[in-house]
Amino acid sequence: MASIELRQVSKTYPGGVHAVHATDLSFRDGEFVVLVGPSGCGKSTLLRMIAGLETVTGGTVSVGGRVVNDVAPKDRDVAMVFQNYALYPHMTVRRNMAFGLLRRRRHAGMAAWLLRHAEWARERDEVDRKVSETARTLGIDALLDRLPRALSGGQRQRVALGRALVRDPQVFLFDEPLSNLDARLRIETRAEIREMHRRTRATMVYVTHDQEEAMTLADRMVVMRSGVVHQAGTPEECYARPADRFVAGFVGMPVMNFVEGRAEAGAFVGSGLRLGLPAGRWPAVPAGPLALGIRPDRIAVAPGAPAGGGALPASVRAIERLGDRMDVVLDAGGTRLVARIGNDDRLREGEAAHVTVDVAAAHLFAPGDAGARVRDTGDR
Ligand SMILES: Nc1ncnc2c1ncn2[C@@H]1O[C@H](COP(=O)(O)OP(=O)(O)OP(=O)(O)O)[C@@H](O)[C@H]1O
Ligand SMILES: [Mg+2]
Repeated sequence: MASIELRQVSKTYPGGVHAVHATDLSFRDGEFVVLVGPSGCGKSTLLRMIAGLETVTGGTVSVGGRVVNDVAPKDRDVAMVFQNYALYPHMTVRRNMAFGLLRRRRHAGMAAWLLRHAEWARERDEVDRKVSETARTLGIDALLDRLPRALSGGQRQRVALGRALVRDPQVFLFDEPLSNLDARLRIETRAEIREMHRRTRATMVYVTHDQEEAMTLADRMVVMRSGVVHQAGTPEECYARPADRFVAGFVGMPVMNFVEGRAEAGAFVGSGLRLGLPAGRWPAVPAGPLALGIRPDRIAVAPGAPAGGGALPASVRAIERLGDRMDVVLDAGGTRLVARIGNDDRLREGEAAHVTVDVAAAHLFAPGDAGARVRDTGDR
Protein backbone atom coordinates (compact mmCIF):
# COMPACT_ATOMS: atom_id res chain seq x y z
CA MET A 1 0.00 0.00 0.00
CA ALA A 2 1.16 3.55 -0.51
CA SER A 3 0.57 7.22 0.08
CA ILE A 4 0.53 9.72 -2.77
CA GLU A 5 2.02 13.21 -2.60
CA LEU A 6 1.47 15.96 -5.14
CA ARG A 7 3.72 18.99 -4.74
CA GLN A 8 2.98 22.06 -6.86
CA VAL A 9 1.78 19.81 -9.65
CA SER A 10 0.63 21.60 -12.76
CA LYS A 11 -0.31 20.71 -16.29
CA THR A 12 -0.35 22.92 -19.33
CA TYR A 13 -1.32 21.04 -22.48
CA PRO A 14 0.39 21.81 -25.75
CA GLY A 15 -1.68 24.65 -27.15
CA GLY A 16 -1.71 26.43 -23.80
CA VAL A 17 -4.68 24.97 -21.85
CA HIS A 18 -3.85 25.27 -18.13
CA ALA A 19 -5.69 22.14 -16.99
CA VAL A 20 -4.20 21.96 -13.47
CA HIS A 21 -2.64 24.87 -11.55
CA ALA A 22 0.14 24.36 -8.96
CA THR A 23 -1.65 21.85 -6.74
CA ASP A 24 -0.57 20.41 -3.38
CA LEU A 25 -2.40 17.29 -2.22
CA SER A 26 -1.55 14.33 0.01
CA PHE A 27 -3.45 11.06 -0.08
CA ARG A 28 -2.79 8.92 2.96
CA ASP A 29 -1.99 5.24 2.74
CA GLY A 30 -5.31 3.37 2.55
CA GLU A 31 -7.39 6.48 2.10
CA PHE A 32 -10.36 6.71 -0.31
CA VAL A 33 -10.20 10.13 -1.93
CA VAL A 34 -12.70 11.39 -4.50
CA LEU A 35 -11.80 14.16 -6.95
CA VAL A 36 -15.01 15.95 -7.86
CA GLY A 37 -15.92 19.01 -9.89
CA PRO A 38 -17.69 20.14 -13.04
CA SER A 39 -16.74 18.91 -16.50
CA GLY A 40 -13.36 20.18 -17.66
CA CYS A 41 -12.06 21.13 -14.18
CA GLY A 42 -8.96 18.91 -14.53
CA LYS A 43 -9.95 15.76 -12.60
CA SER A 44 -8.92 13.27 -15.28
CA THR A 45 -5.74 15.19 -15.98
CA LEU A 46 -4.75 15.00 -12.30
CA LEU A 47 -5.52 11.28 -12.16
CA ARG A 48 -3.64 10.55 -15.38
CA MET A 49 -0.60 12.38 -14.01
CA ILE A 50 -0.64 10.09 -10.96
CA ALA A 51 -0.91 7.07 -13.28
CA GLY A 52 1.89 8.36 -15.48
CA LEU A 53 -0.31 8.49 -18.58
CA GLU A 54 0.21 12.24 -18.75
CA THR A 55 3.48 14.08 -18.00
CA VAL A 56 3.51 16.87 -15.43
CA THR A 57 4.63 20.28 -16.64
CA GLY A 58 5.57 21.38 -13.11
CA GLY A 59 6.01 19.92 -9.62
CA THR A 60 6.47 16.37 -8.39
CA VAL A 61 4.31 13.27 -8.01
CA SER A 62 5.36 10.71 -5.37
CA VAL A 63 3.89 7.26 -4.77
CA GLY A 64 4.93 5.44 -1.61
CA GLY A 65 7.57 8.08 -0.87
CA ARG A 66 9.29 7.75 -4.26
CA VAL A 67 9.19 10.54 -6.85
CA VAL A 68 7.72 8.92 -9.96
CA ASN A 69 7.83 11.81 -12.45
CA ASP A 70 10.12 9.81 -14.70
CA VAL A 71 8.79 6.33 -13.89
CA ALA A 72 6.81 4.57 -16.63
CA PRO A 73 3.12 3.84 -15.88
CA LYS A 74 3.66 0.07 -15.73
CA ASP A 75 6.35 0.50 -13.08
CA ARG A 76 4.27 2.71 -10.75
CA ASP A 77 2.28 -0.18 -9.27
CA VAL A 78 -1.03 1.56 -9.89
CA ALA A 79 -4.13 0.09 -11.54
CA MET A 80 -6.50 2.37 -13.40
CA VAL A 81 -10.13 1.75 -14.32
CA PHE A 82 -11.58 4.02 -16.99
CA GLN A 83 -15.08 4.96 -17.97
CA ASN A 84 -14.47 3.46 -21.40
CA TYR A 85 -12.89 0.24 -20.24
CA ALA A 86 -11.79 -1.94 -23.14
CA LEU A 87 -12.11 -5.70 -22.70
CA TYR A 88 -10.46 -8.06 -25.16
CA PRO A 89 -13.44 -9.18 -27.26
CA HIS A 90 -12.03 -12.58 -28.22
CA MET A 91 -11.15 -13.60 -24.65
CA THR A 92 -13.46 -15.00 -22.00
CA VAL A 93 -14.10 -13.07 -18.80
CA ARG A 94 -11.65 -15.38 -17.03
CA ARG A 95 -8.88 -14.68 -19.51
CA ASN A 96 -9.63 -10.96 -19.57
CA MET A 97 -9.17 -10.85 -15.82
CA ALA A 98 -6.08 -13.08 -15.76
CA PHE A 99 -4.40 -11.46 -18.73
CA GLY A 100 -2.56 -8.70 -16.86
CA LEU A 101 -1.27 -11.14 -14.27
CA LEU A 102 -0.02 -13.73 -16.75
CA ARG A 103 1.58 -11.11 -18.91
CA ARG A 104 3.33 -9.59 -15.93
CA ARG A 105 4.65 -12.97 -14.93
CA ARG A 106 6.00 -13.61 -18.41
CA HIS A 107 7.88 -10.35 -18.31
CA ALA A 108 9.04 -10.91 -14.77
CA GLY A 109 10.17 -14.49 -15.26
CA MET A 110 11.81 -14.15 -18.69
CA ALA A 111 10.71 -16.96 -20.99
CA ALA A 112 8.03 -19.08 -19.37
CA TRP A 113 9.59 -22.32 -20.62
CA LEU A 114 12.54 -21.74 -18.29
CA LEU A 115 10.26 -22.37 -15.35
CA ARG A 116 10.04 -25.93 -14.20
CA HIS A 117 6.72 -27.41 -15.24
CA ALA A 118 5.43 -27.79 -11.65
CA GLU A 119 6.24 -24.20 -10.76
CA TRP A 120 4.48 -22.90 -13.83
CA ALA A 121 1.38 -24.94 -12.97
CA ARG A 122 1.44 -23.61 -9.43
CA GLU A 123 1.48 -20.06 -10.69
CA ARG A 124 -1.37 -20.80 -13.03
CA ASP A 125 -3.38 -22.19 -10.12
CA GLU A 126 -2.60 -19.12 -8.06
CA VAL A 127 -3.85 -16.82 -10.83
CA ASP A 128 -6.95 -19.00 -11.25
CA ARG A 129 -7.68 -18.82 -7.55
CA LYS A 130 -7.34 -15.04 -7.49
CA VAL A 131 -9.57 -14.59 -10.51
CA SER A 132 -12.28 -16.86 -9.07
CA GLU A 133 -12.17 -15.15 -5.71
CA THR A 134 -12.42 -11.66 -7.18
CA ALA A 135 -15.19 -12.74 -9.55
CA ARG A 136 -17.15 -14.06 -6.58
CA THR A 137 -16.88 -10.74 -4.73
CA LEU A 138 -18.14 -8.87 -7.76
CA GLY A 139 -20.93 -11.36 -8.46
CA ILE A 140 -19.62 -12.33 -11.88
CA ASP A 141 -18.36 -15.85 -11.07
CA ALA A 142 -21.15 -17.39 -13.15
CA LEU A 143 -19.94 -15.42 -16.18
CA LEU A 144 -16.28 -16.45 -16.20
CA ASP A 145 -16.52 -18.51 -19.38
CA ARG A 146 -18.49 -15.99 -21.42
CA LEU A 147 -17.16 -13.59 -24.01
CA PRO A 148 -17.64 -9.84 -23.39
CA ARG A 149 -20.24 -9.53 -26.15
CA ALA A 150 -22.50 -11.89 -24.19
CA LEU A 151 -22.52 -9.54 -21.18
CA SER A 152 -24.59 -6.50 -20.26
CA GLY A 153 -22.89 -3.11 -19.90
CA GLY A 154 -22.97 -3.37 -16.13
CA GLN A 155 -21.43 -6.84 -16.18
CA ARG A 156 -18.66 -5.66 -18.49
CA GLN A 157 -17.99 -2.80 -16.12
CA ARG A 158 -17.55 -5.28 -13.29
CA VAL A 159 -15.13 -7.35 -15.33
CA ALA A 160 -13.08 -4.19 -15.89
CA LEU A 161 -13.11 -3.55 -12.13
CA GLY A 162 -12.16 -7.17 -11.50
CA ARG A 163 -9.25 -6.96 -13.90
CA ALA A 164 -7.80 -4.09 -11.86
CA LEU A 165 -8.54 -5.79 -8.54
CA VAL A 166 -6.76 -9.07 -9.26
CA ARG A 167 -3.54 -7.19 -9.85
CA ASP A 168 -3.43 -6.21 -6.19
CA PRO A 169 -1.64 -2.90 -6.80
CA GLN A 170 -0.59 -0.32 -4.22
CA VAL A 171 -2.91 2.30 -5.66
CA PHE A 172 -6.22 2.14 -7.52
CA LEU A 173 -7.22 5.00 -9.77
CA PHE A 174 -10.81 5.19 -11.02
CA ASP A 175 -11.98 7.63 -13.68
CA GLU A 176 -15.80 7.75 -13.67
CA PRO A 177 -15.97 3.93 -13.71
CA LEU A 178 -19.73 3.80 -13.14
CA SER A 179 -20.99 6.40 -15.58
CA ASN A 180 -22.16 3.81 -18.12
CA LEU A 181 -24.39 2.08 -15.60
CA ASP A 182 -28.06 2.78 -14.91
CA ALA A 183 -28.89 4.60 -11.68
CA ARG A 184 -29.72 1.51 -9.67
CA LEU A 185 -26.68 -0.52 -10.73
CA ARG A 186 -24.51 2.51 -10.09
CA ILE A 187 -25.63 2.61 -6.47
CA GLU A 188 -25.08 -1.15 -6.07
CA THR A 189 -21.62 -1.08 -7.64
CA ARG A 190 -20.75 1.95 -5.54
CA ALA A 191 -21.39 -0.11 -2.42
CA GLU A 192 -19.19 -2.90 -3.84
CA ILE A 193 -16.30 -0.50 -4.44
CA ARG A 194 -16.62 0.75 -0.88
CA GLU A 195 -16.60 -2.86 0.32
CA MET A 196 -13.54 -3.64 -1.81
CA HIS A 197 -11.81 -0.71 -0.21
CA ARG A 198 -12.66 -1.90 3.27
CA ARG A 199 -11.20 -5.33 2.50
CA THR A 200 -8.09 -4.35 0.56
CA ARG A 201 -7.27 -1.14 2.46
CA ALA A 202 -5.61 0.04 -0.76
CA THR A 203 -5.18 3.72 -1.50
CA MET A 204 -7.96 4.67 -3.90
CA VAL A 205 -8.40 7.86 -5.91
CA TYR A 206 -11.75 8.13 -7.64
CA VAL A 207 -12.89 10.75 -10.14
CA THR A 208 -16.52 11.74 -10.65
CA HIS A 209 -18.50 14.85 -11.56
CA ASP A 210 -21.38 13.60 -9.40
CA GLN A 211 -21.34 15.22 -5.97
CA GLU A 212 -23.65 12.57 -4.53
CA GLU A 213 -21.31 9.77 -5.64
CA ALA A 214 -18.42 11.72 -4.11
CA MET A 215 -20.24 12.23 -0.81
CA THR A 216 -21.18 8.57 -0.48
CA LEU A 217 -17.80 7.08 -1.42
CA ALA A 218 -15.19 9.43 -0.02
CA ASP A 219 -13.20 9.40 3.17
CA ARG A 220 -12.12 12.79 1.87
CA MET A 221 -13.26 14.71 -1.17
CA VAL A 222 -11.31 17.21 -3.23
CA VAL A 223 -13.58 19.78 -4.85
CA MET A 224 -12.05 21.34 -7.98
CA ARG A 225 -12.93 24.02 -10.49
CA SER A 226 -10.89 25.26 -13.46
CA GLY A 227 -7.76 23.39 -12.41
CA VAL A 228 -7.83 24.71 -8.85
CA VAL A 229 -8.67 22.88 -5.60
CA HIS A 230 -11.34 24.81 -3.70
CA GLN A 231 -11.61 22.47 -0.74
CA ALA A 232 -10.24 19.14 0.45
CA GLY A 233 -12.12 17.71 3.39
CA THR A 234 -14.51 15.05 4.61
CA PRO A 235 -17.95 15.03 2.96
CA GLU A 236 -19.38 16.38 6.23
CA GLU A 237 -16.92 19.29 6.27
CA CYS A 238 -17.56 20.21 2.66
CA TYR A 239 -21.31 20.11 3.27
CA ALA A 240 -21.52 21.81 6.65
CA ARG A 241 -18.53 24.17 6.40
CA PRO A 242 -17.94 24.86 2.70
CA ALA A 243 -14.80 26.90 2.10
CA ASP A 244 -16.51 29.18 -0.39
CA ARG A 245 -19.63 29.82 -2.40
CA PHE A 246 -18.54 27.52 -5.21
CA VAL A 247 -18.22 24.51 -2.90
CA ALA A 248 -21.44 25.47 -1.10
CA GLY A 249 -23.33 25.47 -4.39
CA PHE A 250 -21.68 22.33 -5.74
CA VAL A 251 -22.12 20.04 -2.73
CA GLY A 252 -25.66 19.13 -1.68
CA MET A 253 -28.88 18.56 -3.61
CA PRO A 254 -31.09 20.47 -4.18
CA VAL A 255 -28.58 23.27 -4.58
CA MET A 256 -28.15 25.85 -1.81
CA ASN A 257 -30.16 29.06 -2.28
CA PHE A 258 -28.16 32.27 -2.52
CA VAL A 259 -29.54 35.72 -1.78
CA GLU A 260 -27.54 38.83 -2.65
CA GLY A 261 -27.52 41.68 -0.15
CA ARG A 262 -25.63 43.19 2.78
CA ALA A 263 -25.67 43.19 6.57
CA GLU A 264 -27.40 46.20 8.09
CA ALA A 265 -28.19 46.77 11.76
CA GLY A 266 -28.45 43.10 12.73
CA ALA A 267 -30.29 42.01 9.61
CA PHE A 268 -29.45 40.72 6.16
CA VAL A 269 -31.12 43.00 3.64
CA GLY A 270 -31.33 42.63 -0.10
CA SER A 271 -33.18 41.19 -3.07
CA GLY A 272 -36.50 42.29 -1.59
CA LEU A 273 -35.94 40.35 1.66
CA ARG A 274 -35.06 41.27 5.22
CA LEU A 275 -33.82 38.50 7.51
CA GLY A 276 -32.82 39.05 11.14
CA LEU A 277 -29.28 37.76 11.82
CA PRO A 278 -28.93 35.81 15.09
CA ALA A 279 -26.77 37.80 17.50
CA GLY A 280 -23.24 36.45 17.90
CA ARG A 281 -23.30 33.78 15.15
CA TRP A 282 -20.94 35.81 12.96
CA PRO A 283 -18.24 37.43 15.15
CA ALA A 284 -17.21 39.79 12.33
CA VAL A 285 -19.59 40.51 9.47
CA PRO A 286 -17.82 42.46 6.72
CA ALA A 287 -19.40 45.67 5.47
CA GLY A 288 -20.47 45.81 1.83
CA PRO A 289 -22.04 43.27 -0.49
CA LEU A 290 -22.49 39.68 0.71
CA ALA A 291 -24.44 36.60 -0.26
CA LEU A 292 -26.53 34.62 2.19
CA GLY A 293 -26.67 30.89 1.51
CA ILE A 294 -29.43 28.70 2.84
CA ARG A 295 -30.05 25.00 2.15
CA PRO A 296 -33.53 24.07 0.86
CA ASP A 297 -34.29 21.91 3.90
CA ARG A 298 -33.77 24.92 6.15
CA ILE A 299 -36.72 26.78 4.67
CA ALA A 300 -40.23 26.09 5.98
CA VAL A 301 -43.27 26.82 3.82
CA ALA A 302 -46.94 27.14 4.74
CA PRO A 303 -49.96 28.21 2.67
CA GLY A 304 -51.46 31.70 2.79
CA ALA A 305 -50.06 35.12 3.58
CA PRO A 306 -47.86 35.54 6.67
CA ALA A 307 -49.60 36.42 9.92
CA GLY A 308 -46.75 38.31 11.58
CA GLY A 309 -43.68 36.68 13.14
CA GLY A 310 -40.55 36.30 11.05
CA ALA A 311 -42.29 34.78 8.01
CA LEU A 312 -41.86 36.29 4.55
CA PRO A 313 -44.61 36.51 1.93
CA ALA A 314 -44.02 34.37 -1.17
CA SER A 315 -45.84 32.78 -4.05
CA VAL A 316 -45.57 29.15 -5.12
CA ARG A 317 -44.20 28.91 -8.65
CA ALA A 318 -43.83 25.16 -8.92
CA ILE A 319 -44.10 22.00 -6.86
CA GLU A 320 -41.93 18.97 -7.58
CA ARG A 321 -43.18 15.82 -5.86
CA LEU A 322 -40.61 13.27 -4.68
CA GLY A 323 -42.93 10.75 -3.06
CA ASP A 324 -42.16 11.20 0.60
CA ARG A 325 -41.17 14.88 0.31
CA MET A 326 -41.53 17.74 -2.11
CA ASP A 327 -39.49 20.60 -3.49
CA VAL A 328 -41.30 23.92 -3.66
CA VAL A 329 -40.01 26.66 -5.96
CA LEU A 330 -40.97 30.02 -4.52
CA ASP A 331 -40.82 33.67 -5.40
CA ALA A 332 -40.17 35.72 -2.28
CA GLY A 333 -40.08 39.45 -3.04
CA GLY A 334 -38.55 38.71 -6.47
CA THR A 335 -35.98 36.21 -5.13
CA ARG A 336 -36.20 32.59 -6.26
CA LEU A 337 -35.99 30.13 -3.37
CA VAL A 338 -36.25 26.35 -3.40
CA ALA A 339 -37.54 24.66 -0.25
CA ARG A 340 -37.51 20.93 0.44
CA ILE A 341 -40.34 20.09 2.80
CA GLY A 342 -42.59 17.24 3.88
CA ASN A 343 -45.68 16.72 1.73
CA ASP A 344 -48.26 19.45 2.19
CA ASP A 345 -51.40 19.15 0.05
CA ARG A 346 -52.54 22.63 1.04
CA LEU A 347 -49.86 24.25 -1.11
CA ARG A 348 -50.90 24.99 -4.70
CA GLU A 349 -48.94 26.24 -7.66
CA GLY A 350 -49.71 29.91 -8.34
CA GLU A 351 -51.05 30.57 -4.86
CA ALA A 352 -49.74 32.59 -1.91
CA ALA A 353 -47.55 31.08 0.80
CA HIS A 354 -45.22 32.23 3.51
CA VAL A 355 -41.71 31.06 4.21
CA THR A 356 -39.58 30.95 7.33
CA VAL A 357 -35.83 30.84 6.84
CA ASP A 358 -33.71 29.22 9.57
CA VAL A 359 -31.12 31.97 9.49
CA ALA A 360 -29.08 30.35 12.27
CA ALA A 361 -28.28 27.58 9.75
CA ALA A 362 -27.36 30.01 6.96
CA HIS A 363 -23.91 30.92 5.68
CA LEU A 364 -22.57 34.30 4.59
CA PHE A 365 -20.20 34.59 1.64
CA ALA A 366 -17.97 37.35 0.31
CA PRO A 367 -19.07 38.61 -3.12
CA GLY A 368 -18.29 36.70 -6.31
CA ASP A 369 -19.16 33.19 -7.47
CA ALA A 370 -16.37 31.74 -5.30
CA GLY A 371 -16.53 34.26 -2.44
CA ALA A 372 -15.02 32.92 0.80
CA ARG A 373 -17.38 31.89 3.59
CA VAL A 374 -17.49 34.34 6.50
CA ARG A 375 -16.33 32.62 9.71
CA ASP A 376 -19.10 31.79 12.15
CA THR A 377 -19.30 30.20 15.59
CA GLY A 378 -19.42 26.72 13.98
CA ASP A 379 -15.75 27.18 12.94
CA ARG A 380 -13.15 26.22 15.46
N1 LIG B 1 -4.90 16.22 -24.57
C1 LIG B 1 -5.36 17.45 -24.32
N2 LIG B 1 -4.93 18.52 -25.03
C2 LIG B 1 -5.36 19.77 -24.76
N3 LIG B 1 -6.26 20.05 -23.79
C3 LIG B 1 -6.73 19.03 -23.05
C4 LIG B 1 -6.32 17.68 -23.29
N4 LIG B 1 -6.98 16.88 -22.39
C5 LIG B 1 -7.75 17.70 -21.67
N5 LIG B 1 -7.63 19.00 -22.05
C6 LIG B 1 -8.28 20.18 -21.45
O1 LIG B 1 -7.87 20.25 -20.09
C7 LIG B 1 -8.97 20.63 -19.26
C8 LIG B 1 -9.19 19.58 -18.20
O2 LIG B 1 -9.60 18.38 -18.82
P1 LIG B 1 -9.92 17.06 -17.99
O3 LIG B 1 -10.15 15.97 -18.96
O4 LIG B 1 -8.86 16.86 -16.98
O5 LIG B 1 -11.28 17.47 -17.25
P2 LIG B 1 -12.27 16.60 -16.36
O6 LIG B 1 -12.41 17.33 -15.07
O7 LIG B 1 -11.84 15.20 -16.31
O8 LIG B 1 -13.65 16.74 -17.15
P3 LIG B 1 -14.82 15.65 -17.43
O9 LIG B 1 -15.67 15.64 -16.17
O10 LIG B 1 -15.57 16.27 -18.57
O11 LIG B 1 -14.19 14.35 -17.75
C9 LIG B 1 -10.14 20.84 -20.21
O12 LIG B 1 -10.23 22.20 -20.49
C10 LIG B 1 -9.77 20.04 -21.42
O13 LIG B 1 -10.36 20.58 -22.58
MG1 LIG C 1 -12.63 13.40 -17.05
